[in-house]
Amino acid sequence: MDIPVEFQQKIIGCFREEGEKWLAALPEKVAHYAKQWGLTIQGPFTNLSYNYVLFVEDTQGQPFVLKLGVPNFDCRNEMDTVRQYDGKGCARLVKADREEGVMLLERLSPGTMLSDLLDEEEVVRIFLDTWKAIRRELPTERQIPMITDWAGSLTTYAAQANGNQEIPIEFINRAQEYIYKNMEEPERHELLHGDLHHENILYSEERGWLAIDPKGVGGDPCFDLVSFMINHLMEKPDPRTLLEYRVNRISEELHIDQIRLLETAVGLSTLYACWAIEDQSDWQDTYQCAVWFNELLEEKRINAITL
Ligand SMILES: Nc1ncnc2c1ncn2[C@@H]1O[C@H](COP(=O)(O)OP(=O)(O)O)[C@@H](O)[C@H]1O
Ligand SMILES: [Mg+2]
Repeated sequence: MDIPVEFQQKIIGCFREEGEKWLAALPEKVAHYAKQWGLTIQGPFTNLSYNYVLFVEDTQGQPFVLKLGVPNFDCRNEMDTVRQYDGKGCARLVKADREEGVMLLERLSPGTMLSDLLDEEEVVRIFLDTWKAIRRELPTERQIPMITDWAGSLTTYAAQANGNQEIPIEFINRAQEYIYKNMEEPERHELLHGDLHHENILYSEERGWLAIDPKGVGGDPCFDLVSFMINHLMEKPDPRTLLEYRVNRISEELHIDQIRLLETAVGLSTLYACWAIEDQSDWQDTYQCAVWFNELLEEKRINAITL
């Protein structure tokens, strides 16, 4: 079975011994679920991150996706979140082995990713339609993490600060303050996808554009707008102007106060940058977005005073 080396390195880097064991058992596990669920394997998806995603077909030739993750809370939470969406706005969960981290999902064909589209106006419109389609109340029958739980990584980063850290401590403190401030109204809290960016929004000829791969976290709906705003930006000719365009279009369309949107954006993008530092991956571009969000926020505040 084809398990790319970079994928194996990523899994071992993240899950250590547990990851090694999971990788060693993966071919057997795939064969087991193929047999149990009557599936023919058509091959793995090439752009893998922390899950092994395979294209499969059932005995009637119906296409599905088999997704296997290292079994843990995040994996179970993803399954429960996909179930809560119930096929509306998000690809449907067909079967699952909750304890083993295995999901059989409806396949979105052709599965064009939102990142394949070039017209930014169209991209923002599709993103907003998808965002609207997956608004749900907080689940009552199960516990999910809240954005404030995620923000613990900022506290950890600040605690390890030694004066020459990548992100200034004042910036970290401000990000944390904005996250807490915008989590103060529990009546606004809802279920968030948690990772709604271009590669997690796919096109199905039959069903239109749908989300995949939710994290499942609770909080103010504005936090669910940030992964998209900072994604596929730096390769564009004028990223700061594009970021501003996204902020303006989104706040206009959703009637969201720009100060709230920008505060949540500073908070969450700084948190993402800290996660990237923790994972020893590229953090600079994400932090640059946080800095731009903060500049836009300050411009807004000055305009509000002078008007
Ligand atoms: N239901 C699906 N239909 C079609 N393609 C899918 C589906 N689920 C995942 N994929 C493809 O596999 C890629 C990785 O899957 P994803 O669930 O996003 O895993 P990861 O957690 O690794 O990001 C997606 O970007 C998409 O291209
Ligand atoms: Mg994904």
